[in-house]
Amino acid sequence: MKVLITGTSQGIGKAIAELFLKNGHEIIGIDRLESGIADPLYTHYVCDIREKEKLPEIEGIEILINNAGTQNEEDIDINLKALISVTEKYAFRKGIVSVLNIGSASGHTGSEFPEYCASKGGVLSYTKNVAIRIAPLGATCNSLDPGGVLTPLNECVINDKALWNAIMDETPLKRWATPEEIAEWAYFLTVTNKFCTGQNILVDGGESINYRFIWKD
Ligand SMILES: NC(=O)c1ccc[n+]([C@@H]2O[C@H](COP(=O)([O-])OP(=O)(O)OC[C@H]3O[C@@H](n4cnc5c(N)ncnc54)[C@H](O)[C@@H]3O)[C@@H](O)[C@H]2O)c1
Repeated sequence: MKVLITGTSQGIGKAIAELFLKNGHEIIGIDRLESGIADPLYTHYVCDIREKEKLPEIEGIEILINNAGTQNEEDIDINLKALISVTEKYAFRKGIVSVLNIGSASGHTGSEFPEYCASKGGVLSYTKNVAIRIAPLGATCNSLDPGGVLTPLNECVINDKALWNAIMDETPLKRWATPEEIAEWAYFLTVTNKFCTGQNILVDGGESINYRFIWKD
């Protein structure tokens, strides 16, 4: 299938692109950075997704994965408004099969940085809006909402032993996801899945259900 993925130069987006390439799909990546992916089935556009008018003209997208994101840098403009521009430009066409938005556990819980969690909360509700509008085309739209993932975005806490131990205290499964396992979820939700739509799927090792039950002994 012809798959458009944003944010393919590193982290989760790169892992998703590599998994789809391994499975023989044609991938178009958009990122503001150059890409290191060298594969005949891969085409890369260097573009800041905030610049709506500079988004490349691409025909025939069957799967759209909105992954590009940031934290503490115009989060609402990048994580939410640009994601909406990309979706409105490429997804609503005959032949679309699925749209997947990478949200975040923080969009469910309200934790993390204020503008980041607000941007992701918006992604979660926009996902439902798209699911309703794209259903007449026979397509699905869901969000995949990770907790902690081992990517460059998080190196400052991954490499700090004390902070890392504190994070593990709050994480029932006592680890973070790898980008490769998030990619497996992305593949399942966009290629295998045909009937789940409008859902915000948490993949967070139990981080968001973790709370302390306080009661009398
Ligand atoms: N890493 C995590 O723990 C985690 C957890 C939950 C959700 N997420 C979400 O997953 C997605 C990917 O995160 P990641 O950890 O792989 O981050 P990352 O920083 O490793 O990769 C993000 C990619 O998006 C690109 N990008 C950012 N802003 C862009 C813009 N304006 N235009 C074009 N490209 C842009 C970057 O250049 C980069 O290649 C993000 O939406 C993030 O919010 C990550």
